[in-house]
Amino acid sequence: TNASSTNHTKYRRSSQPFLELKIDGISLSNSVNTKAFGSVKIMLQGIMSAQEQFKAQPTDIFICSHPKSGTTWLKALSFAILTRNVFLSSTNPLLSELPHDVVPFIETLSFTDITSRDPELPLLSTHMPYTSLPKSVVECKCKIIYICRDPKDSFVSMWHFAGKLRGTRQKPFHWRRHVRNFVKDSIMVALTGIMFWVIGKQAFNFLRECSSSNMKICKMTPSPMSGEWQSSWVALSPWKKRQGLVQKVVDLCSFEILSNLEVNKSKKHSSSLRHIWKVEKNAFFRKGKVGDWENYLTADMAATIDQITEQKFSGSGLSF
Ligand code: A3P
Repeated sequence: TNASSTNHTKYRRSSQPFLELKIDGISLSNSVNTKAFGSVKIMLQGIMSAQEQFKAQPTDIFICSHPKSGTTWLKALSFAILTRNVFLSSTNPLLSELPHDVVPFIETLSFTDITSRDPELPLLSTHMPYTSLPKSVVECKCKIIYICRDPKDSFVSMWHFAGKLRGTRQKPFHWRRHVRNFVKDSIMVALTGIMFWVIGKQAFNFLRECSSSNMKICKMTPSPMSGEWQSSWVALSPWKKRQGLVQKVVDLCSFEILSNLEVNKSKKHSSSLRHIWKVEKNAFFRKGKVGDWENYLTADMAATIDQITEQKFSGSGLSF
């Protein structure tokens, strides 16, 4: 990620300086969507400060993902597994806090939070692409869990989420235009236009590193959003014999339970994300279904996205 700040004549009328975010050649600037750019600018600053100041430890576990791929669910599961000794306590933070406030994104942490780590909790997360991760994350070879979801479902999920961010006072995004922009890799709608391209590239980079280095990356491929995953967790887990606990972890982190907790139904804003987006906590829980795209995309739209997905993911070892 490179950021450049210049006095660009074309945008002199705007009070903002010209800023440009480049991710592997795709560029997003405040000339595109000034409103969204305020938040993008804060995210960009967060990414840069994480790159400069964040020092990963070999014992760290990083949850890496693209937005709307199941990050909230994976944060809850990972936190529950890591804190399994106190999991059954009534003070379990998952019962009273949004998973994003329990396991924050490093790009949203303030300087003090970045430098003073909680030694008891080696769990961190990021939406940053592989190529933008702080050097220490790659160099110290800590564990990385990367989650990826069918881009059609991520797209529909993002459409709803972006609508929530815009609020009810603005018109909803025009659906067909939105799909067209998404498919064309357009950056007109900052959140989603840039998203699709990055999904393919990001997944590819993470998975390529997985096979070419001794980095410990756990690949979690499609259909992670359902209970079918329980058997994989039991197989992966060294606490195999304590299946009662596995079941409890899976249950608590299920969409039904998490989304019905008072804290997650709340219209209050997430404390860790508040300075970027005024986003209600309930926005992170919508349906949690695999294949919900079928209710929104026409066969043509789906076929076009599938075709691009196939191209972008070709050689990554992932398919949807
Ligand atoms: P939908 O909008 O398709 O329902 P992210 O956490 O990366 O922002 O992704 C959000 C998506 O994950 C949303 O998908 C949301 O409903 C779903 N989700 C959140 N918590 C979940 C859980 N515990 N189990 C399954 N899906 C969950």
